[in-house]
Amino acid sequence: MTVLSDESCTRIIHSIKKETEVTILHYGATVISWKVNGVEQLFLSSASKLDGSRAVRGGIPLVFPRFGPPREEHSETVKLPQHGFARLAFWEVLGQCDDHTVQFGLGPEYLTKDLSSAWPYNFSLIYTVSLGETHLRVDMEVRNADTKPFEFNLLFHTYCRVDDVTKVAIKGLKGLKYIDKVRDDTKVESDDQLRVETEVDRVYMSAPSTLTLEDNGQARFRFCANNMADTVVWNPWSTKAGAMSDFEPKEAYKNMICVETGYVAQFVKLNAHTAWKGGMTIEALQ
Ligand code: BG6
Repeated sequence: MTVLSDESCTRIIHSIKKETEVTILHYGATVISWKVNGVEQLFLSSASKLDGSRAVRGGIPLVFPRFGPPREEHSETVKLPQHGFARLAFWEVLGQCDDHTVQFGLGPEYLTKDLSSAWPYNFSLIYTVSLGETHLRVDMEVRNADTKPFEFNLLFHTYCRVDDVTKVAIKGLKGLKYIDKVRDDTKVESDDQLRVETEVDRVYMSAPSTLTLEDNGQARFRFCANNMADTVVWNPWSTKAGAMSDFEPKEAYKNMICVETGYVAQFVKLNAHTAWKGGMTIEALQ
C-alpha cells in the first residue's frame, strides 16, 4: 500500500489490487472517493464544496454528536447544527497504523469557538479508515475525557453510487421497527426488500449486523456493522434534490442511495473517563 497525504487529503492506494484506493478529505475526515478496480463506489455531488466552507454532499460524512436537527427535548445538543460538528471540522491526521490503515483525530481544540461552546465537553474521537481489496472499513472510538458523562449519536452517512435507484433492493430489514421521517410515523417493515420509488428517509432500529444492497438484480454492496444499532436509508428524490444548492447534477438522485450505519434512534451514554467503539465494513460485491 501507499499512503499519500497533502494539506487537504490523504489517499490510501492498494499495492496489489489495481486502481483500488480511498481518499479522505481532512475537512470532516470525509471519505470522498472509494474506488475498486478503478470503479467509483460512492456518490459525490459535483457541486459539493471541498474547501471547508460547508459539509460535503457525498462520500461518507461523519455525523456526531447528534443526528438530525436540534431538538428542544435534548438540551445537551440543542445548540448544535443539524448532524453535529464532526463533518464541519478539520481533523488531525494522526498517522498510519499499518500499510493500509490511517487514523484521524478530533477534539474540542479543533472546533470553532461557537461549536465547542455549543457542546462543552472534553472528548476525543479517533477515526480509523482501512482499505481492503474489495472493502472499506471505518471505525470510530469516542473517548470521554471529561469529569461528567455525555451522550452522543454517531453515523457513517454513506452515499452509495448505484446505476438506477429504482432497481435497488435493500435486504435484511424485514420485521424491523422504523421511523418514517417523510410520513412522520413509526412502522414495522413488512417487505423482504426495500425498494425506492419516491423520497425515502427512514431510521431502522435494532438493524441486523449485515445488510445487502442489490442493484438491478445483482448483489452490489454488503454492509457489516460492529456495535451499531440503527440503519438510516435516505434518498431525497427529485423535489428535495432540486432544493439542495449543493446537489448536482439534479438528476443524480437516481444514481445514489444513502445507507447509513449508526447509533441514532437513541443516544449512547458515555461515562467520564471511558471509551466506546463502533464501526462498519462496506464490501463492493461487483
Ligand atoms: C439523512 C437524514 O441522514 O441526512 C435526512 O435522515 C437528511 O433527514 C439527510 O435530510 C441529509 O442531511 P444534510 O444535513 O446533509 O442535508
